[in-house]
Amino acid sequence: MNKKKIEKEYNKKIKLINNYNKNYYDASKPLVTDEVYDNLKKSILSLEKKYFFLNSKNSPSKTIGFKPSKNFKKRPHKTPMLSLANAFGKDDLINFEKRILNFLSKDLDFNLTYSAEPKIDGISASLIYKNSEFKIGLSRGDGKEGEDITTNLATIQDIPKKIKSKNFPEEIDIRGEVFIQNSDFEKLKDKFANPRNAASGSLRQKNPDETRKIPLKFIAYTFGYEKGLKSKNQTDFLKNLDDWGFKTNPLNKLVAGVDNLLINYSKIENDRSKIDFDIDGIVYKINDFELQKRLGNVANSPRWAIAHKFASNKAISKILNIEIQIGRTGALTPVAKIKPINIGGVIVSNATLHNEDEIDRKDIRIGDFATIERAGDVIPHILSVDKNKRDKKSPKFIFPLKCPSCGSKTIKEFNNITKKEDAVRRCSSEGYECEKIAIEKLKHFVSKDAFNIEGFGKKIVENFWNLNLIKLPQDIFDLDFNKIENLEGWGKQSMENLKYSINQKKNISLERLIFSLGIRHIGLENAKILSKYFESFSNFISFSNETISEDILNIDGIGETQLKSVKNFFENKVNLNILKKLQKILVVKDAATKDKNGLLNEKTFMVTGKLIGISRAEVKSLIEENSGTTVSTVTKKLNYLIMGEKPTKKKVDKAKEFKVTILSQSQFLKMLNITS
Ligand code: IVH
Repeated sequence: MNKKKIEKEYNKKIKLINNYNKNYYDASKPLVTDEVYDNLKKSILSLEKKYFFLNSKNSPSKTIGFKPSKNFKKRPHKTPMLSLANAFGKDDLINFEKRILNFLSKDLDFNLTYSAEPKIDGISASLIYKNSEFKIGLSRGDGKEGEDITTNLATIQDIPKKIKSKNFPEEIDIRGEVFIQNSDFEKLKDKFANPRNAASGSLRQKNPDETRKIPLKFIAYTFGYEKGLKSKNQTDFLKNLDDWGFKTNPLNKLVAGVDNLLINYSKIENDRSKIDFDIDGIVYKINDFELQKRLGNVANSPRWAIAHKFASNKAISKILNIEIQIGRTGALTPVAKIKPINIGGVIVSNATLHNEDEIDRKDIRIGDFATIERAGDVIPHILSVDKNKRDKKSPKFIFPLKCPSCGSKTIKEFNNITKKEDAVRRCSSEGYECEKIAIEKLKHFVSKDAFNIEGFGKKIVENFWNLNLIKLPQDIFDLDFNKIENLEGWGKQSMENLKYSINQKKNISLERLIFSLGIRHIGLENAKILSKYFESFSNFISFSNETISEDILNIDGIGETQLKSVKNFFENKVNLNILKKLQKILVVKDAATKDKNGLLNEKTFMVTGKLIGISRAEVKSLIEENSGTTVSTVTKKLNYLIMGEKPTKKKVDKAKEFKVTILSQSQFLKMLNITS
């Protein structure tokens, strides 16, 4: 047989097996017996073994486990499913505790107690119970909406279907982890890459009878929306979970203070290999629910919890090359290409070197033998290099002074706050003129927290860029779909899917839009604050013609660095043009006008001096929760100055001059009917 014929035969088989898969997983309709299926799979694998040029990405050799179904209905989570910030060592934990004590305005010796819960590496699920019955089960999805996988979850024995206890809340969304025990995984390991993969694959396939065959377990650890929950703290809640018939982690513990957290951590890390499920760290949660409520959330994670990751795995390998990656803000990040090596079950071939200073400090050179560390899901990094093993002639690594993508000069900026030169070197070009920056900007534009265009991944951005299909954000909304349909790997259906997802995202909130522009220093939180200030897209664009007024400088939470960065962005004509084009294409939802029903509606506040038992940050959230606004300077427009101990004299004098009402801490709290 000649090459063409072999390829034809091979592709036919791949098409056939994928058709079997589709019917089996998506439509729960097996077209052939298991034997026919297995024989077909075997023949594909043996063809690939024989002919190296057969390498289809749709081959069963490339796909592991079940193909997830697209058929699940999406449903919003009543309370979002957040993620957790990570801590890697003692310093991170001390800072975590400090931040909490600061927010709560407690002394540093205040004893905080935590529920320390070994973090199972599985798939999180949300189980909605109404009138003591399991009604709906959702996957995490993007945290805001998940997939309705009720029937699959219902096959798990650990999930109670009816709860008899009297103190079970009227409605509650119980959250926890679905996972597979290591001993059970032994029997499945030919089918899946790891236990987590097995749990996720079996949860997200169409036929619940198939899910039932997999020994999935469920451990409960938190709740979302609830009506009628009586627990006062996390330990109480975990105990309730046990009483109600849920499984909880037997290694959960109540621990006080960072030192004890570290002792508990070492014990569990030592016993890790003896535990029959994979854990990748320990979650610490402030035990008291009242304190949790006061602390609230930042962006996508709660202030009151953190995941303390287990020490990574380390390995030694050779640095083959040092490449420079260019990020969307122009930052040049060196990456070591290393001889591929297995570190804790994952093949690692790249390690970040952070920045130029790091390479200098550690004197890292191409050809060196390096110790590489990998912790959880973070990018592996280089700890040190072995200078004894180094070739005497090996030259020092010189960081490029020209951008490797566009040739512009690279610069290190002077940081006005630290009064030092930045560690990061940047490409000095103006954004979209540099190919690499432009591609990264586009990737950011379509990413999860920005436009969140389903199916528009990083590879597609690169591909479309190379094919001249997209160069600027507005091009995404004017794609040549006929061309796309005929590209390799595309077809009518996938093209239609993409078209649909793009069209859907033409409706966007102002905050997401501002974030998606990828303006330096404007992350999710700042985009939110700016969107509240500008209220509409056209007001935001008009800012390009305005100077930085006292009013805008007065927004609490945004400083000069951020505003200058926005101004800088507007100064670039390409950016301004992008905004004008997008304005014609998109329907931008104005920022949700504040809830005007609060007690402090239309009132502005400022704090000076030290308050007792409550931090500035908490005062700010209290004001905002009650429809008020906090500002950062005293102006004529200010309504109230809250005065604590040792206030700034200048501010008080100014307030008096402008006839601003001055409140004591207790007068302020009284306005909110809080007695202190
Ligand atoms: S609490 C916002 N408790 O960790 C609170 N999460 O990165 C987050 N996880 O998606 C949930 N064990 O899948 C919590 N005892 C535990 C946990 C736990 C594992 C997972 C969960 C979540 C992720 C957060």
